[in-house]
Amino acid sequence: MNTSFLLGGDLPIRRLGYGAMRLCAQPGNFGKYPDWAGGIALLRRAVELGVNFFDTAHPYGPGYNEELIGEALSPYAEGLVITTKGGVDKTAPDRVFPDGKPESLRRFCELSLGRLRLERIELYQLHRPDPAVPFQESVGALARLREEGKIRHVGLSNVTLAQIVEARRIVPIASVQNRYNFAERSEDPVVDFCSQQGIAYLPWGPLAAKPFEAQAPLTHSGGALQQVAARHGATPGQVALAWLLHRSPNLIPIPGTTSVVHLEENMAACAIALSAEDQESLSAV
Ligand SMILES: NC(=O)c1ccc[n+]([C@@H]2O[C@H](COP(=O)([O-])OP(=O)(O)OC[C@H]3O[C@@H](n4cnc5c(N)ncnc54)[C@H](OP(=O)(O)O)[C@@H]3O)[C@@H](O)[C@H]2O)c1
Repeated sequence: MNTSFLLGGDLPIRRLGYGAMRLCAQPGNFGKYPDWAGGIALLRRAVELGVNFFDTAHPYGPGYNEELIGEALSPYAEGLVITTKGGVDKTAPDRVFPDGKPESLRRFCELSLGRLRLERIELYQLHRPDPAVPFQESVGALARLREEGKIRHVGLSNVTLAQIVEARRIVPIASVQNRYNFAERSEDPVVDFCSQQGIAYLPWGPLAAKPFEAQAPLTHSGGALQQVAARHGATPGQVALAWLLHRSPNLIPIPGTTSVVHLEENMAACAIALSAEDQESLSAV
């Protein structure tokens, strides 16, 4: 199993990243993370464990999550890749809405650059298509930011296969971030398409957590996950992450956690080599 992936064909990243969304006030990932020092320590521990790919977004906080990353990890070590997203805004825990207007995307990007203390964002993702804005206009705005050197690669999130195809007519697409995990595989055709095209697929909710809930069903799952976990002296959650890593070489899970113990457990999933027998047991949900 390959443990690294060339994002956009030129940026090497380790295949198990970290999703920072949960390092926000709750409910609704709205507001400054109350244990700010603990968040900084956790992000630095992730780097020590070998994580070099961190996912965040404008609405996480909004803004505070990027500030936390900027404070914890900058000046960035060589090879550390921070990806963020624009195109969704949040004005209250339960008031989240798309805003894909070209001028808004430019504003989100400028805000992210400042908060992350970056001159250029290595991977900038459209968080979700805005039904009120023609998709080509939102993608075109990201293409212009790329031409200007504010971002290096363009990614998409929460998109259909048809939208990926459409976007690629405008600008090269380096990544797709949709919900996908051991228990939710309806995205299989998108994963396969991205794999064929060398596009990174960043499955969000890799442990099947719902965005605003602190439960991760796959971490205490029974059935095949539990059986394979027992064979490896691992946890079901680790096997769920290992399954993603074995699923195809372009899959880069970004599990999120607020716990250093869970972070260490999740990262150890990289070392699990699933046998053909394991993979057969895990082939059906
Ligand atoms: N593009 C999008 O629209 C979108 C939407 C949602 C998320 N995301 C991205 O995807 C990342 C991951 O998604 P997610 O955080 O929603 O879901 P997830 O990674 O499936 O699960 C996170 C949840 O699982 C728990 N957890 C993690 N490791 C655990 C372990 N070893 N044992 C027990 N519980 C564990 C965490 O609680 P503890 O804190 O207690 O560990 C947290 O509640 C986010 O951080 C964000 O970057 C993107």
